[in-house]
Amino acid sequence: MKTQVAIIGAGPAGLMLGHLLHNAGIDTIIVEIKSRQYIEERVRAGVLEQGTVNVMVDSGVGERLLREGLEHEYIDIRFNKKPHRLNVKELSRGRSVWVYAQHEIVKDLVAARLEYDEPLYFEARDVSIHGIDTDKPSIRVVHEDRQQIVDCDYIAGCDGFHGISRRVIPDSVLRIYDRQYPFAWLGVLAEAPPASQEIIYAYHERGFALQSMRGPDISRLYVQCPVADTVEDWPDDRFWTELHARLETEDGWQQQEGPIFQKGITGMRSFVCEPMQYGRLLLAGDAAHIVPPTGAKGLNMAIGDIQTMTRALRAYFEGGSKDYIHSYSDTSLKRVWQMQRFASMLCYNLHRFPEHNTFEHKMQIAELNNMTHSKEAMRALAQNYTGVPVELFYDLD
Ligand code: FAD
Ligand code: DHB
Repeated sequence: MKTQVAIIGAGPAGLMLGHLLHNAGIDTIIVEIKSRQYIEERVRAGVLEQGTVNVMVDSGVGERLLREGLEHEYIDIRFNKKPHRLNVKELSRGRSVWVYAQHEIVKDLVAARLEYDEPLYFEARDVSIHGIDTDKPSIRVVHEDRQQIVDCDYIAGCDGFHGISRRVIPDSVLRIYDRQYPFAWLGVLAEAPPASQEIIYAYHERGFALQSMRGPDISRLYVQCPVADTVEDWPDDRFWTELHARLETEDGWQQQEGPIFQKGITGMRSFVCEPMQYGRLLLAGDAAHIVPPTGAKGLNMAIGDIQTMTRALRAYFEGGSKDYIHSYSDTSLKRVWQMQRFASMLCYNLHRFPEHNTFEHKMQIAELNNMTHSKEAMRALAQNYTGVPVELFYDLD
C-alpha cells in the first residue's frame, strides 16, 4: 500500500490530523490497536478551549458539539470555604471554554472518516515503524490477519504516552523532561445534576477537588487521592464525604449525590520529549508530552500540535516546501512549554503535597488570592485557561 501520511493512533490527535489532511486532499491511513467501541467509550478529558472548538467547527465536524456542548463563561476557584467566580470570557476578551467529552470528539471524527471512506484500521496488531531516517519511510501492520506494508512520505506518531513512535527516536537524540507527582485523581461520573453550572477547582487542607459535568443531569467529579490508592479504597460513601468536605462553602452550598456509574484513578505527571520529530517521523499529543490535568490542557495541546503539523504537511504536499516541517518540533515545543508552565502552576497551587509545610500552604493561599483578586493575574489565568491561539506562540524565542 502507499499513502502520503501514515498515522499511528486514533485518539483525538490522530483522528483530527486525518480529518484536516483529508480536507486538504492529502491521503492518509490511520492504524489503531484498540477497537472502535473501546476508543468511543474511553472516559477522559472534557474541557475544550475556544481554539479546539473553532478547529472542530471550521473543519466541518462541530455540529453536534455546538448542539450538545456546554459553553462556559465562568470558572470558580474555591479556597478557605469561599467561591471566587471568574468571568473567563470577559477577562479573555471573548473566549470561552466548552464542556464536551473527549470520547464524543472521537465519535464525531470516526463518523466523519467512515463517511468519506478513508482507511482506518481498528484492532491493528504488531504495528512497527521503518526507515524514518530515509526518504522512503514505511509502517508495517497486521490487520484482519493480513500483514501489510504501507509506504509513505511521512509518519505521524499520535499513539499516546505508551505508544511505539517516541521509542524509535534514537536514545542519542531523545531528551526526556519528566516529573511525577505524589498524588493521583479519583474521578467519577454520577447521575446527579451538578450543583453549580461552573467548573469548580477547590483547594482544601484535605486535598484538591473538582466539580465538572457532562450534561444537565450528569456530574463529573474528582478528588485528589494518594498515588497508591485503587478504586477499591474508595467506596461511594467515602467519595461523597471527601467531596462534600472539600467543596464546602460558608453559605452551605452542597453537591447533590446520585448513583456513581464510572470510577477511575489517574496518576499524574509532567513529561516532555525533545525533539518532537526525527527524520520522517513527527510526534503529536501524549506521544510527546503529558501535563497534569488541573488546567484541562492535554487534549487541547494535542489539537494544537495537529494544527501546527497540518500547516507543515500542507506546505510540503501543496508547495514542496519543507521549511515548516523542519521547524515543526521547535515551533510546537515553545507552545508545549507554555502549557506545561500553566498546568504545573495550577497543579502546584491547588493540590496538597505530602512534603509541604505550613509555609508552603500559606504561599498557596497567597497565590490563589492573587489569582482571584489581581486584575492582571485574573486576565492571565483566563487567557491561558481559554487557550492562547496557536499562531501567537509562533513568535516566541
Ligand atoms: P490518546 O488519546 O492516548 O490516543 C492515542 C491512541 O493511540 C490510542 O487510541 C491508543 O490506543 C493508540 N495506540 C497506542 N499504541 C499504539 C500502537 N502501537 N499502534 C497503533 N495505535 C496505538 N486531559 C484533560 O485535559 N483532562 C482530563 O480530565 C484528562 N483525563 C485523562 C484521563 C486518563 C486516564 C488519561 C490517560 C488521560 C487524560 N487526559 C486528560 C489527557 C487527555 O485525555 C490526553 O491528553 C489526550 O487523550 C491526548 O490525545 P492523543 O490523541 O495524543 O492520545
Ligand atoms: C475536567 C477535567 C479537567 O482536567 C479539568 O481541569 C476540568 C474538567 C472534566 O473532566 O470535565
